[in-house]
Amino acid sequence: MSVSLLSLTRPLDTVSGFLQVASLLGLALLLLKAAQFYWHRQWLLKAIQQFPSPPSHWFFGHRQEFQKGRELQELKKRTEKYPCASPRWLWGSRVSLVVYDPDYMRMILGRSDPKSDGSYRLMAPWIGYGLLLLNGEIWFQHRRMLTPAFHYDILKPYVRLMADSVQVMLDKWEELLTQNSHLEIFEHVSLMTLDTIMKCAFSYQGNHQADRNSQAYIQAIRDLNNLVFARVRNVFYQKDIFYGLTSEGRRNHKACQLAHEHTDRVIKLRKAQLQDEGELEKIRNKRHLDFLDILLFAKMENGRGLSDKDLRAEVDTFMFEGHDTTASGISWILYALATHPEHQQRCREEIQSLLGDGASITWEHLDQMPYTTMCIKEALRLYPPVPGVGRELSKPITFPDGRSLPRGFLVLLSFYALHHNPNVWPNPEVFDPSRFAPDASRHSHAFLPFSGGSRNCIGQHFAMNELKVAVALTLLRFELAPDPFRIPVPTPRIVLMSKNGIHLHLRKLL
Ligand code: HEM
Repeated sequence: MSVSLLSLTRPLDTVSGFLQVASLLGLALLLLKAAQFYWHRQWLLKAIQQFPSPPSHWFFGHRQEFQKGRELQELKKRTEKYPCASPRWLWGSRVSLVVYDPDYMRMILGRSDPKSDGSYRLMAPWIGYGLLLLNGEIWFQHRRMLTPAFHYDILKPYVRLMADSVQVMLDKWEELLTQNSHLEIFEHVSLMTLDTIMKCAFSYQGNHQADRNSQAYIQAIRDLNNLVFARVRNVFYQKDIFYGLTSEGRRNHKACQLAHEHTDRVIKLRKAQLQDEGELEKIRNKRHLDFLDILLFAKMENGRGLSDKDLRAEVDTFMFEGHDTTASGISWILYALATHPEHQQRCREEIQSLLGDGASITWEHLDQMPYTTMCIKEALRLYPPVPGVGRELSKPITFPDGRSLPRGFLVLLSFYALHHNPNVWPNPEVFDPSRFAPDASRHSHAFLPFSGGSRNCIGQHFAMNELKVAVALTLLRFELAPDPFRIPVPTPRIVLMSKNGIHLHLRKLL
């Protein structure tokens, strides 16, 4: 009897001993984490003591600013109350200095700080380490390799391809208008800009605006825009292992797969075409290779070609950057013109006198629409398609007003806040294209839709051409007015979106 009792109690002792040790270890780990949190927070608080900000919660930070879609309004209030820059806490141990002053911008963009790992890293499962996410020497090699893809000899013939894609979209609008004169344009414009980048950069033929795969890709990008943005702000979603277990994590994984299926298809097709001697001969005769061909024929410093992983990352990066930013730009510009009929009409008259019916818009025309260009820039000021970018300071910085930040600190360059800062742009909410008149003066870093410095947008000339072609051809075909019942609500994501879409009233012109 006593022997069997002993044999029963021994395993019980072992289990409870194990549980005690585990709880002690758990408690120690928790205390260690709490101490880490405390010391890190103290370091951050000391670093930003010279920069006042609105009151924040010790754990939830400025979360109330992000809720209820008030983020952009709150940013504007900051520009009025806190000069140049102010700290914004995402949670108790993550803070960035939000910058909205041109001199501050110039200082930061003139350095070579890397992209902030905390936010950009979360895009890596989707676009990989291509030009947008790379840093240091490898970024420099890729930038040098890809810059020739934006040479003006390459960009020139794209104007025709851009115009074709825009006309397909406008034909579709004409058909839809027989049923309803109101239209949500963002999705149509996204399909059109995707079509354009596929034809220009990836030599992909055909009409993709009615194609199911393109629609699925656009939807995946919409989801990823939302999911990545939400993840950046959620303290519990930072670790991949935990995020992967959540429903958002699973949706993110699924959307990445969908996006990759699309880009893999494009790469495969081009590789297959290049098996053909005739196609290879065409490439040999070209003075400048286009984007995908540069990647496929690339030889890096070590003499080797790009790995499949690096190639896919660049294709994913350009497929996304090359269409979603321009879709946001074009949609918001059309909305801005819809709400300012007098400027819309002046642009239309300028374009009519230049192009007649617009059937043959060319590269040469793009420099001959000064008023339309001023309106496009003013709309990019009010609605910058990329609302902000992040950097992690690789060395300490002292700003022109003497305030400073230590190495390792995160900064968010808010182009949206810069463009709405009343100290930089008087009456910032007023749509006034004369701000961009040839004789108007402004700070070199007051208007930064394409960022600045060495990491500025590599596709900015491509983008400006596409914006001009799309705006010119649309104004020739339609008169635009806002839908008074569905006013768009600007919402920051990786690109600037509208919470409720962009609804316009369109009237076909003769
Ligand atoms: C209106 C349209 C566009 C806007 C407003 C825009 C804006 C920007 C901004 C602000 C950046 C800096 C991002 C950062 O620092 O994190 C950037 C970078 C970049 N953009 Fe654009 N972009 C546009 C169109 C395009 C197009 C059409 C392409 C490609 C065809 C493109 C490709 C890129 C790439 C690859 C980078 C990373 C460059 C680097 O870091 O070296 N963008 N863009």
